[in-house]
Amino acid sequence: MCGIIGCAGRNEDTLDVLLSGLEGLEYRGYDSAGVALSNGSVEICKREGTIERLQAAVDRSLGGTDAVGIGHTRWSTHGPPSDENSHPHTDCTGEVAVVHNGIIENYSALKEELQESGHEFTSDTDSEVVPHLVEDALSEGVSPEEAFRRAVSRVEGSYALAAVLADSEAVLATRNDSPLVLGVGEEAAYLASDVPAFLEYTDRVVYLEDGEFARLESGSWSVSDADGEVVDKSISRVEWDAEETAKSGYDHYMLKEIHEQPRALRKCLRGRVDERTGSVDVEALVGLSPSSVQFVACGTSYHAALYGAQLLREEGIHAHAFLASEYATAPAPVDDGTLVVGITQSGETADTLSALREAHRQNVETLAVTNVVGSTVSRECDRTLFIRAGPEIGVAASKTFSSQAIAANLLALALSGRASRNQELIGALRDLPSQVQAILDDSRAEEVASKYVDSPAYFFIGRNEHGPVALEGALKLKEISYKHAEGFAAGELKHGPLALVTEETPVFAMVTGDGEAATKTIGNVKEVEARDAPVVAVTDGVSDVGRYAEDVLRVPETHPRLAPVLANVQLQLVSYFVAKELGRSIDKPRNLAKSVTVE
Ligand code: F6R
Repeated sequence: MCGIIGCAGRNEDTLDVLLSGLEGLEYRGYDSAGVALSNGSVEICKREGTIERLQAAVDRSLGGTDAVGIGHTRWSTHGPPSDENSHPHTDCTGEVAVVHNGIIENYSALKEELQESGHEFTSDTDSEVVPHLVEDALSEGVSPEEAFRRAVSRVEGSYALAAVLADSEAVLATRNDSPLVLGVGEEAAYLASDVPAFLEYTDRVVYLEDGEFARLESGSWSVSDADGEVVDKSISRVEWDAEETAKSGYDHYMLKEIHEQPRALRKCLRGRVDERTGSVDVEALVGLSPSSVQFVACGTSYHAALYGAQLLREEGIHAHAFLASEYATAPAPVDDGTLVVGITQSGETADTLSALREAHRQNVETLAVTNVVGSTVSRECDRTLFIRAGPEIGVAASKTFSSQAIAANLLALALSGRASRNQELIGALRDLPSQVQAILDDSRAEEVASKYVDSPAYFFIGRNEHGPVALEGALKLKEISYKHAEGFAAGELKHGPLALVTEETPVFAMVTGDGEAATKTIGNVKEVEARDAPVVAVTDGVSDVGRYAEDVLRVPETHPRLAPVLANVQLQLVSYFVAKELGRSIDKPRNLAKSVTVE
């Protein structure tokens, strides 16, 4: 999705800050980029395509010294990717430049009104109405800040907006339903859609709330409300450091993030569980005793939600996972004891926020499970359980899925009240990071990926806790390799999908332990084998599934609840190596965005 960066600073090369900030936002997904600098006049450079294209086109002296500036990565919604549709957009005079994330719902009416009064538009975007509205307000003789405020008051929809004006030495910004965070440096102030954009300059941040306005000047900043009253804001420190957002020698962020999982899982668990007593010490979960739990989430987070719901059902709690986009318009019935849990890595996914807002409307308690401190979800929910995975830059979620799964285990442990069972699981959780490390050190995934890289389609099957991982394995493979992949509950194969299975389509089967689920899944594996399809068994070797498999990817033995997390690491690696061999854009797959802030 679109990304915004802004900078106002003494002794800063503003253009450099903007360009490197845009690189820090690349992971969100984009198709064009641009910058605007103001220093008595407004200068703009914008291009369809990559940030490298913008860098090649930009005049290094743009804005001169001591300029203030804004930058933008665009992910098209209104109008195709083109130089004209790229942000920043300007008014008729070229003295007001604006960048926008989100969707302006009433833009058609505003555009018509502005055109009737003589404004000329140069793009197809909804965003372009904003600089023209600012221009109109300026013509009434008000200050730049008041003109920006008046323009924003006309706009309906979701937005993060930032502007520079020829007539002002400040960057002006505001938000509604779209993230925007300020960075507080020694002699400069920054703003961005997400912290990695300015993390190399400062780790001190101020989270802007909906309806608040920020003003960044050379080294100072202030926040006010819609009426211009100053709002007292506190500065927080983000725990991430710039090293965590660098590629650190890996070919791709995704591979780095897959390898970061042992550390991420340790951080997720640190100080939160006590193996001796079987107890969980997580402030966000204290006193929770819901009669039923409804999970809402999207994509990979939805798979973590499916997994979490299974864990809770094993604890005897009514639990169900819903696709947030469905729940938002067709919510499930709730009662006083219902807890709605939103799982979202970014904390900004519009569908998930919308589902949680629906829950709030029904006065139901909400819990956010997220990775991002200060994210919208963490500020809107009654409770927040942070997964502590550290920044995830690759568009495809990898380490955050594993950490979400561990957070789901913490929730299940907290609600279970069965100390002895808990002790066993906590012991297994303690060993999990080193077991993930063992897989990373020893995986045959690259070999398997290479063997099947030309297959026309791939299928993934798993039963019970392995079901969500079958879906996740398929999602990961399709999003980064662009190959057709589908995941099924193992027992469903024979109810239709088996028609697609041929000797050319590998079937990845997750089978751990030797219980009933394993035995039944082996039955499904035999059905596949009988159709001459190559089976790749992801297994701990406890059962004899290897006898029916063409290839085996081994995982260490663990508690049955945690086996899917280990199996998933093997599947992540297979997806990564298939995509790598095909030369795909792994960290920024086509058409996808890291933070999906539109419904
Ligand atoms: C897949 C992926 C997406 C996200 C989904 C929800 O690899 O990354 O499917 O899981 O867009 O995002 P969050 O977790 O930020 O709500």
